[in-house]
Amino acid sequence: MRVLAVGDVVGKTGRRMIAKWVPQLVDQEAIDLVVVNGENAAGGNGLTHEVLDELLSLKVDVLTSGNHIFDKREVFEFIDDVPVLLRPLNLPKGTPGHGYVVVSKASVPVAVINVAGRAFMPFQYDDPFHALDQVLATLKHEVPIIIVDFHAETTSEKMALAWYLEDRVSMLVGTHTHVQTADERIFPQGMAYISDLGMTGPRDSVIGVKAPSVIQKLRTQMPTRFETAVGVGQFGALLVDINDASGKAETIRRILKYEES
Ligand code: FE2
Repeated sequence: MRVLAVGDVVGKTGRRMIAKWVPQLVDQEAIDLVVVNGENAAGGNGLTHEVLDELLSLKVDVLTSGNHIFDKREVFEFIDDVPVLLRPLNLPKGTPGHGYVVVSKASVPVAVINVAGRAFMPFQYDDPFHALDQVLATLKHEVPIIIVDFHAETTSEKMALAWYLEDRVSMLVGTHTHVQTADERIFPQGMAYISDLGMTGPRDSVIGVKAPSVIQKLRTQMPTRFETAVGVGQFGALLVDINDASGKAETIRRILKYEES
């Protein structure tokens, strides 16, 4: 199975990049499953139903998220009814939405799990290691291919989780920092890994936000209104081939594309 995982979609520019690259790559590269982190796809924060529909119409199969998933209030109206839209698994019991989904695309069923880190994150998430142990105990017997989006700030927490999971999952992709790392690799037990997929959004920005407002905030420490940047787009992703029988990754290719300016 060939999987494309795409990093954090930010605003209009990010959606334009999805429209430009995802359907084309799916056809050209014969991709079976597309997983996209969409937590900032609507205006730079959160997700609306309209934006969800737009992304799902562009050959996106599963949407993961993170700390911004509940930023737009309307998400509460539909998150329970859209199994392919994930929120972090390690939120308190009773939180709306789903932390993982099993999809049957192509030859074998695939589980996609979304989990959030704890280092320097704005919420006190439950232990992601423990949360994954519990879910994997069941899933491991049911599905041969398991993909994890680890939405976290630090490379060390991501790397630690990678070593913890490498013999149990097929692919672990980091998201949230919006800066792509060049450390893609296949771990000894066959798990494809990258610390961060990078942003799919406006290139000339501070991780998606107009630079002057971020500079002002850092210099003055005053509350500042952040505006989502526009302009030249970038597309950050990872393309991985996974053996259907063993669930192990066989090839890995990092993608970072810029829109023609
Ligand atoms: Fe995030």
